[in-house]
Amino acid sequence: RLDVTETFHGITFPGHLHTQDSLQSALRFPFQDTDILIVSYPKSGTTWMQEIVTLICNRGDPHVCQTVPNWTRAPWLEQHYCAMVLEKYPLNPRVITTHLPQHLLEPALQGSKAKVIYVSRNPKDVVVSYYHFCKMAKFFPDPGSFQDFLNQFLDGRCELMKSWQNFFFFNLKVTLALQSIKSLHFCGKISAFLQRPLVEEELNSCLKHSSFSSMKNNTMVNCTLISPEIMDHSKGCFMRKGELGNWKSLFTDEQNQHFESVFSSRMQDCSLKFVWD
Ligand code: PPS
Repeated sequence: RLDVTETFHGITFPGHLHTQDSLQSALRFPFQDTDILIVSYPKSGTTWMQEIVTLICNRGDPHVCQTVPNWTRAPWLEQHYCAMVLEKYPLNPRVITTHLPQHLLEPALQGSKAKVIYVSRNPKDVVVSYYHFCKMAKFFPDPGSFQDFLNQFLDGRCELMKSWQNFFFFNLKVTLALQSIKSLHFCGKISAFLQRPLVEEELNSCLKHSSFSSMKNNTMVNCTLISPEIMDHSKGCFMRKGELGNWKSLFTDEQNQHFESVFSSRMQDCSLKFVWD
């Protein structure tokens, strides 16, 4: 396991990708009005949205998706290589990704017309996806048992999920739930939001190339390019299941009841209500 971490504003980040400088620079990032920012809590469908946005920006043509890794065509703002990537590979428009919470990024976004897409997913599916990911990602501590991991998640991490939900409700930006993503209507909604209208054939191509099976086989997004020192590919697949309700395979009834009660009390002041499945 790589035990290098960076703690920033109380959040722990993997140290091989984040430095205090890169995290600090993200808070002062000069957004351009033409930027597209994808924000998400990890394991919520970030990579999926990167694929959909790239496809929409290329009118459904999969060439860029199939030849450029997602961290180059939609770099994470807070990671140390972001500035270099934006300079070296000028993107038009710039598609930028972040897992930073809203309260940290709000000052940089103030007054900007950058288009922000927030991706959310049933938090129970998020925790299951995260648990499996931690087993293979050597930049996270060994997750131990699912019960241990769930306790940690409920202790701290769900606070971060709330932050953007409130932000987007009040700012009338689009809030997208992972489950509706399969429809043409959904892709059309994103392309309209990005002011990049597509014809039906182009939208169909976006759907086809952002499907789970296409992405599972796409080395530019399925993490197989990541070295075994960083990710133990024998322990699982990044494109694992891509299902709704996969949490049911791991949660016991007791864990489910506990999750519901902690989550609803912690989310009391979140005005946006989600119906997950
Ligand atoms: S990360 O590490 O934060 O960037 O992870 P993230 O991309 O947010 O989430 C990974 C999960 O998203 C699933 N995924 C998909 N599901 C359905 N269709 C498509 N096209 C797709 N692409 C990614 C991926 O399989 C992870 O979820 P789980 O439940 O582990 O399968």
